[in-house]
Amino acid sequence: MHAYDAFLAGPEHSLNLARLQADFNLEFDSSCPPVAVVARRLEAMLAGDQCFAIVAGNGRGLVGHALVTLRPTIYFDGPLAVLDELYVQPALRGRGIGSAFVNCLLQELALRGSLELHINVDEDDTATRRFYERHGFANNFLGSDWRMLLSYQPLPPTK
Ligand SMILES: CC(C)(COP(=O)(O)OP(=O)(O)OC[C@H]1O[C@@H](n2cnc3c(N)ncnc32)[C@H](O)[C@@H]1OP(=O)(O)O)[C@@H](O)C(=O)NCCC(=O)NCCS
Repeated sequence: MHAYDAFLAGPEHSLNLARLQADFNLEFDSSCPPVAVVARRLEAMLAGDQCFAIVAGNGRGLVGHALVTLRPTIYFDGPLAVLDELYVQPALRGRGIGSAFVNCLLQELALRGSLELHINVDEDDTATRRFYERHGFANNFLGSDWRMLLSYQPLPPTK
């Protein structure tokens, strides 16, 4: 068990969230824009209705976050959701905080009428894949026995 309640973040948490995101990217050697840039983008995103973040904190600041973006879809009236980021500070992993984030974001998605949630996970990240499977995610569509694969192409900047 843990003593960190998960709650919905507001734009005022943007800077703290951006710092956590920088730690996440650093841990996994992936590039991240400067903290101030991420904070500015998050502030605008969290003020709108196409994104939300779940966070948990102690008296000193946030200890983890989940970031979800939402988009319209032709398949149902509510938004299609993507779990873009999920992170718990290394020293606090394995205490149920990540699970609390997932439970909390699923409740939020139910309130918003979303019927589908996507997440990309690296194939070799078996611990995280097991974590998601335990929370009901699968990498094949219900009824099919082939795996879905994410295709991706970085696009050149236009300006
Ligand atoms: C994945 C993550 C958010 C889970 O948060 P958490 O608070 O540790 O999760 P819980 O305590 O609720 O659940 C623990 C489960 O997560 C799994 N897990 C995945 N990565 C882990 C890690 N690096 N450290 C500890 N547990 C991890 C554990 O194996 C455990 O499952 P198990 O009991 O089957 O072994 C957290 O481990 C993390 O931030 N990992 C690094 C970032 C990451 O991989 N994010 C997902 C990107 S797709």
